[in-house]
Amino acid sequence: PFKGEDLKEQILKLKKEKNAVILAHYYVDAEIQDIADYLGDSLGLAQAAEKTDADMIVFCGVHFMGETAKILNPNKKVVLPDLNAGCSLADAAPKEEFAAFKAKYPDAVVVSYINCTADIKAMTDIICTSSNAVKVVESIPADKQIIFAPDANLGRYVAKKTGRDLILWEGACIVHIDISLEKLKKSKEENPNALLIAHPECKEIILSQADFVGSTTALLNFVQTSECQEFIVATEAGILHKMKTAVPHKTLIPAPANEKNSCACSECPYMKMNTMEKLYNAMFYELPEIEVAEEVRIPALKALKAMLEISK
Ligand code: 13P
Ligand code: SF4
Repeated sequence: PFKGEDLKEQILKLKKEKNAVILAHYYVDAEIQDIADYLGDSLGLAQAAEKTDADMIVFCGVHFMGETAKILNPNKKVVLPDLNAGCSLADAAPKEEFAAFKAKYPDAVVVSYINCTADIKAMTDIICTSSNAVKVVESIPADKQIIFAPDANLGRYVAKKTGRDLILWEGACIVHIDISLEKLKKSKEENPNALLIAHPECKEIILSQADFVGSTTALLNFVQTSECQEFIVATEAGILHKMKTAVPHKTLIPAPANEKNSCACSECPYMKMNTMEKLYNAMFYELPEIEVAEEVRIPALKALKAMLEISK
């Protein structure tokens, strides 16, 4: 029944009444980013979820992020505006197949990217995000074999950075691998003064041409600290909203996606399932709620805590 400013006010009112906190990833729509109590990348959001004293966490992101918040806060209610907001990386690693893969390397340390299900986290020794993947891998003794899952592009990037030989699970982010090399080359020709900055979920061929590679937050920091005035941004386009507010005088060009993508730039269809209406309903009805079974939550928490400990 509510629209525009009215809807925004109602969300803020409900938030107060229910002692709720709104956590949002940089890839959700701008109006949701603007209403969030905490806006961040995957690591920042996990840290914020760990710290909150709210009674209800409303996670404007995707399912694995809501699960992560629940793993850290078993006694709090965690709701997601749309339960269908999944992730191609989480989908790429089904529980049974991953268990069989892991069984082939019984002595390997398992490092999993936070973009995976709670079941995979429970089979993991230490979680990482794109912000700390290099640090996490470097923390593992050199004589240990390492399984890295589920993002093979991030894995290849980390292997190159650390010189470690990683056993990769071949998952990918549909959004980042959809960035078109051909169109990107054209964009670089048209904008010769622009630096190409890219997220490590992109394909190796894109990363090899990038002037800077980093997580969502690292890319945001880079445009603020670099002396350069123009950037081609090879990641999900939602981050441009925050970048534009941080550096309004600089030129930010979203990296072009392939034809099959419905928009000219890269957009995550799952992140975009979050809307202000669904956010309101999730808060009002306190649904849909994220649940994680204790036998999964306990080992998953151990792997998450191992990451949070070295990322302080
Ligand atoms: P970061 O938030 O770690 O940059 O990861 C990007 C992403 O794809 C989140 O789903
Ligand atoms: Fe998953 Fe990629 Fe969407 Fe992030 S951008 S939620 S990795 S599909």
